[in-house]
Amino acid sequence: MPRLAVIGHPVAHSRSPEMQTAALSGLGLAGEWTYGALDVAAEDFEATIAELAAAGEYAGVNITVPHKEAALAMADEASEAASAIGAANTLSFRDGQILAANTDAGGLIRSLPHLPDGERALVLGAGGAARAAIWGLADVGAVVDVWNRTQAKGQQLAAHFEVDLVGDPNVADYALIVNTTAVGLGGEDPFEHLPLGPDSFVPGQVVLDMVYTEEPGALLAAAAAAGATTVDGLEMLVQQGALSLRIWTGEEPSIEAMRTAVRR
Ligand code: ATR
Repeated sequence: MPRLAVIGHPVAHSRSPEMQTAALSGLGLAGEWTYGALDVAAEDFEATIAELAAAGEYAGVNITVPHKEAALAMADEASEAASAIGAANTLSFRDGQILAANTDAGGLIRSLPHLPDGERALVLGAGGAARAAIWGLADVGAVVDVWNRTQAKGQQLAAHFEVDLVGDPNVADYALIVNTTAVGLGGEDPFEHLPLGPDSFVPGQVVLDMVYTEEPGALLAAAAAAGATTVDGLEMLVQQGALSLRIWTGEEPSIEAMRTAVRR
């Protein structure tokens, strides 16, 4: 019985177990495979992964905050995306070896209504989620600009990925806007913290907010009201999860079943 799990700290809020269990059920694998959650503190992370890789019970794990960089560091082999982003959200254990992948970037691209090839994209933020977004977007041919509250951190990231840092972006110029910051998660007004206002959006734009809350946040509500296409963090969660499941099982899970499970 191959086992799977998401490892984070904290992890109790994670929707991955429900979502991946629904995906496994849809594939007819629920009797064989299980997907759980392991709360592992930073100081125990390395030992836990080493143990799981050696024991042979687990086929792999998803990795979430705060372990994604540490997960990559433990890998015997890493995908191009994981290496370039500097973080892994998916580990596979094979013959005691640890293989690292990053499906956050691919998940973001798959959650978009169309490929932003040759289009201008604005990424808000400069943390780990921004790294995955910038790499993923550049990989499919988008022309990426970055904005970050703390300029020094933004400059570092922009230099690393060879994209432009912008201080006061003209939001209407972008085909795609991706919020990777946590703004909105605690109910803050995004228009107080981000370089845009409720009137910044234009019809035909795509606006993706990685934050996911029960009700659509103010950012996506304003974007939708302006005629933009909106994508929320749950859709990205579904898509990255589907890519991870494909790595472990070799099968293509039902996106619809996964969507239903995370939105329940
Ligand atoms: P993650 O790995 O999820 O991207 P992170 O590495 O902690 O998380 O990065 C958080 C991002 O959200 C950063 O870009 C941070 O901006 P700073 O570099 O200025 O800290 C951004 N962020 C968090 N709270 C914010 C706020 N209130 N206003 C604007 N940006 C904020």
